[in-house]
Amino acid sequence: MILLLNGPNLNLLGEREPEIYGTTTLADIENMVRDTCASYGVEVKAIQSNYEGALVDFLQEHRKAAQGVVLNPGALGHTSYALHDALKAMNCPVVEVHISNVHAREAWRRVSVISPATRGQIVGLGTTGYYLAALWLCNELAGAAEREVEPVDVADLEGAEVGEAAPEGAKGEYE
Ligand code: DQA
Repeated sequence: MILLLNGPNLNLLGEREPEIYGTTTLADIENMVRDTCASYGVEVKAIQSNYEGALVDFLQEHRKAAQGVVLNPGALGHTSYALHDALKAMNCPVVEVHISNVHAREAWRRVSVISPATRGQIVGLGTTGYYLAALWLCNELAGAAEREVEPVDVADLEGAEVGEAAPEGAKGEYE
């Protein structure tokens, strides 16, 4: 299960400063992420909140079950040590997403206090950033599942010929 979190003011996507954030709504983004993950058989739990504590609570609630996090913290990314610490307590990779290129805007937006607690960031690629983050996480999960080693069943080894002693005086395949 992947968590999708959006922080303050992202409920206004589509209406808010469209010249910066575009016209895609939060509902569109949530559907896009759900569809992307569904094609990998991965469930998505989403939240948007204007309250730091609600985002921290959501992370804690799903801390054990979450396999990945896509997070656009909004302005909380620039200020919230509480969010940083909550992300640190997760046992799964976190991808930070910003729709706009925060590095090309006001100086205070260049600082992210949560980035050290994330695996990576996708910045300035518009709402496609959410899609890319979900895709990367699903690929990671698929790769991890593939790498899981099947336990060996001893019964399968019975009758195996490997290491079988050669009958006395045998030739041919035993030589
Ligand atoms: C944002 C960038 C933040 O600086 C801003 O406060 C937001 C949106 C983005 O997606 O570009 O709310 O996180």
